Amino acid sequence: MSPKVLFVCVENSCRSQMAEGFARLHGDNVVEAWSAGSKPSGKINDTAVQVMKERGVDLTRQSSKGLPDLPKVKWDYVFTMGCGDACPTLPAKLREDWAIPDPKNLSTDEFRQVRDQIEKKILDLIREIKGAPHVDQTKEKVKEFVRDRYAKIAGGKKQSCCGTKEDSCCGTKEDSCCGSQNTETCCSDSKSLGYSVEELKDAPEGADLGLGCGNPQAIANLKAGEVVLDLGSGAGIDCFLAAKRVGAQGHVIGIDMTHEMLSKARENAKKGNFPNTEFRLGEIEHLPVADNSVDVIISNCVVNLSPDKPQVFKEAFRVLKSGGRLAISDVVATAALPEDAKKDLALYAGCMAGAVAIPELEAMLASAGFKDVRIQPKDSSREFIRDWAPGRKIEDYVVSANITGRKA
Ligand SMILES: C[S@@+](CC[C@H](N)C(=O)[O-])C[C@H]1O[C@@H](n2cnc3c(N)ncnc32)[C@H](O)[C@@H]1O
Repeated sequence: MSPKVLFVCVENSCRSQMAEGFARLHGDNVVEAWSAGSKPSGKINDTAVQVMKERGVDLTRQSSKGLPDLPKVKWDYVFTMGCGDACPTLPAKLREDWAIPDPKNLSTDEFRQVRDQIEKKILDLIREIKGAPHVDQTKEKVKEFVRDRYAKIAGGKKQSCCGTKEDSCCGTKEDSCCGSQNTETCCSDSKSLGYSVEELKDAPEGADLGLGCGNPQAIANLKAGEVVLDLGSGAGIDCFLAAKRVGAQGHVIGIDMTHEMLSKARENAKKGNFPNTEFRLGEIEHLPVADNSVDVIISNCVVNLSPDKPQVFKEAFRVLKSGGRLAISDVVATAALPEDAKKDLALYAGCMAGAVAIPELEAMLASAGFKDVRIQPKDSSREFIRDWAPGRKIEDYVVSANITGRKA
């Protein structure tokens, strides 16, 4: 049985409602979430409704409840949102105050910051609950390792490509040979992935960390006005290129589970002035995106990193509109990796050991509901994959591929 979690604030109009919404979004089947207010206002705050809608959560489906309206159950967790002395002390196995500031009188942008703070707390909570012994700990460990690696890449001075090398030529303007002013001579990496120099000039400085393994724009056939979702957006390179293509009437959403990457992408969006692009914190296995709301899903070298790929494709199918398209670049296995490589977490986080064979991938996509699935391996990619783990001969086992499909 899922643990029962109660979120409490004073008016039950913003913080606890947002926490309940995120717990349902990210932790459905993991927790049973409720919210209540010690002095309920009877209505849900309009700004909370607006900023949660941006995350694909419809708060209008929830109701504002007071403590006496709650079912008489034993709570496993009670989290108060920062109501200080006004917080009730309800019995529970674990009680904690999250000290979330009350956003009621804040601007919409500040409200969004509080929303993101709550979302992070919920993701941490879900992760912690999933870490309980009955849940597959290996998958969580793998994710933690991957998150840690990309946090370091986002925050570090020296950047490295998708691979295991710590010192590579890809990075931010200040400390590497690749920057938008130098793409022609230096960034053969990005060019060998299929990006044109012209295209790269459209992205803000620092958005291209050289972490991809292809160019999803080349297969996505994006049109003006479309809604695009990028799974594992990193510092935002593909989101910014997509944003130019879909134009002001279109909208681009990047999802990433690594806070440090998200901050970098948001900074880049501000720097480059991309009002049609937003970045959301989340896991691609539990997308913070509404059902049937996206025209095209792109992704660049990310699905291989997920320890639960069938769930990623299930989620991708859920959020696509009918007629929507999947257009991703990713690595696939052309031969079974040696056992020692399969167990090597650095090779996993470096986009190699998590690659699955093409027939297996086809079966996952078909079982999620995708039609017209096409997986085209690119033999030429072995050349740059060789540099990801020099001497390990990984290029004999994995290649980059274009993966497309359609929701009928
Ligand atoms: C190899 S990088 C690719 C980044 C970006 N697509 C690019 O081409 O620059 C992988 C990115 O996916 C994110 N990521 C990995 N696994 C994820 C998951 N399960 N959910 C959400 N993001 C994930 C990482 O944080 C990282 O930013």
